[in-house]
Amino acid sequence: MKNIQLRKARKDDVPAINNILNYAIMNTNYNLNEKPRTLEDAYKWYDEHMTEGYPVYVAEVDGKVEGWASLSHFRAYSGYDTTAEVSVYVDKNYRHKGLGTLLVTELERDASRFHTLIAVITDNNTASISLHSRCGFVPMCTMRELAKKNNEYVDITFMTKRINKK
Ligand SMILES: CC(C)(COP(=O)(O)OP(=O)(O)OC[C@H]1O[C@@H](n2cnc3c(N)ncnc32)[C@H](O)[C@@H]1OP(=O)(O)O)[C@@H](O)C(=O)NCCC(=O)NCCS
Repeated sequence: MKNIQLRKARKDDVPAINNILNYAIMNTNYNLNEKPRTLEDAYKWYDEHMTEGYPVYVAEVDGKVEGWASLSHFRAYSGYDTTAEVSVYVDKNYRHKGLGTLLVTELERDASRFHTLIAVITDNNTASISLHSRCGFVPMCTMRELAKKNNEYVDITFMTKRINKK
């Protein structure tokens, strides 16, 4: 691949980010929503991340956004403010070429205010488990039938990485 650029996401990247996400929603159980996210909700998601200081990065290949990654609030209790949840999505035509690894590595550089990063992964998502292992995340547990998509229960693996000793 030529001309890969990693950078912070801008507001005008939101439609491309949302298309990549919605492909995963509609074609896999790796994202546990069942309906595509509207563009309006995607802009809201972006604005909330910017307001709350949670990073969103994109990977451009030859000037087009082909992947993105973000950190998000993990759970709505203040005690969890030291943990952030990783999301990473790569366009189907650009997978297995290293973009996911580049994106998670870049995110981590912007994550020093957190103590722990967590990835919540559908247990059949071998690509995501490999990616996070490669980036130093450790599988902590697999919870059986924790979610349901398209009438099938789904096992969920939690992987974490301690990134800041404070
Ligand atoms: C998971 C995902 C982000 C990985 O991104 P990627 O750019 O393909 O990952 P990389 O090329 O950096 O590869 C990272 C690791 O994953 C492995 N991998 C990538 N695609 C794979 C596949 N289809 N099957 C098995 N392993 C795969 C690579 O071999 C590498 O592992 P290694 O170091 O052991 O060789 C991408 O597959 C994706 O977007 N999937 C759909 C959305 C998704 O599942 N997001 C994560 C939700 S938790």
